[in-house]
Amino acid sequence: MSVLICVTGRDNTKLMHKLRLSLPEVMISEWPHCTNLSEIEFVIAWNAPQALWAQLPNLKVVQSYGAGVDGIELDHLLPHVVVTRIVDTGLADDMAEYVLTHALAHKLRLREYNLKQHLCEWKPRRVKPYNHVGILGLGELGQAAAKRFLNNGFIVSGWSRTKKSIEGVTSYHGEAAFNQFLESLDYIVCLLPLTVQTSGILNRTLFEQVPAHCVLINVARGQHLIDEDLIWALDNNKLAGATLDVFSEEPLPSEHPFWHHPLITMTPHCAAITDLTSVCEQITININASNEQRPLQNIIDRSAGY
Ligand code: NAP
Ligand code: GLV
Repeated sequence: MSVLICVTGRDNTKLMHKLRLSLPEVMISEWPHCTNLSEIEFVIAWNAPQALWAQLPNLKVVQSYGAGVDGIELDHLLPHVVVTRIVDTGLADDMAEYVLTHALAHKLRLREYNLKQHLCEWKPRRVKPYNHVGILGLGELGQAAAKRFLNNGFIVSGWSRTKKSIEGVTSYHGEAAFNQFLESLDYIVCLLPLTVQTSGILNRTLFEQVPAHCVLINVARGQHLIDEDLIWALDNNKLAGATLDVFSEEPLPSEHPFWHHPLITMTPHCAAITDLTSVCEQITININASNEQRPLQNIIDRSAGY
């Protein structure tokens, strides 16, 4: 079995080391230093170059290095190729903690007080009375976030593609229910996968529908958001603030207006970072399963795109 690591934009030394220890029989190489592309059966990928896929005639499995698979060009893979992703309770816990923390930070006016501290201003105000959070995407991460919000006294609504029944969560599904889902939200959290259907979903039309005091928390992908529509909504009192962890270009260029906008809180795509040990365990299980022609874990639905 020959495995290729094509995880771009990071140092893969530890990943390579760990996988070689857990899979001593397997031949593992790293893109672009690979001389046996025609033998590769299993690729571990993150933002792999599109040109790679046509060079792998023996490819059977593409394993995403993260939860999302949008960095893999699904249309460029032969139909029989299986695509898998990372599903991890640690990742879901980190994400749930992140979105709860940022909703509470808005509720408790932390950014406001931080700015006032720099001006030596003493102006106490009541906590904002807003408790209704709407989660776009009720998958592994969306459901973990929903539970965390419920446990902290929030009212939770969720929107997904297929019908869901989750205790305590008012669930909406499909395009027809989208407007009703948005109606009375105080916080909107995006935890959708990036697909043709969800790209650009955080746009002017949505911002005009939610109440003006609503706060956006985008932790899914930068391409879900139309950047100029967010600036328009914040500057025209259609939204009260935004926390952004993901951007259409990462790192975000220093001239981008998000950096200095007074109502935007930014973090560098760190809401839920894949844990190397857990990732290596999952990849090892899938490489062994593929080798022994057993079912793989966390296979995505290629026709749905996630
Ligand atoms: P998931 O388990 O695949 O869940 C996706 C959810 O989105 C599902 O509930 C799905 O509906 C819903 N959905 C998909 N397409 C839809 C559509 N067209 N309309 C309505 N709902 C739709 O994904 P996950 O593991 O929760 O991860 C979500 C995303 O988080 C990832 O794709 C990734 O982009 C992002 N992420 C970000 C970070 C970070 O650090 N910022 C870390 C990890 C992941 P159904 O349930 O009906 O299928
Ligand atoms: C991170 O963004 C992931 O998809 O795991």
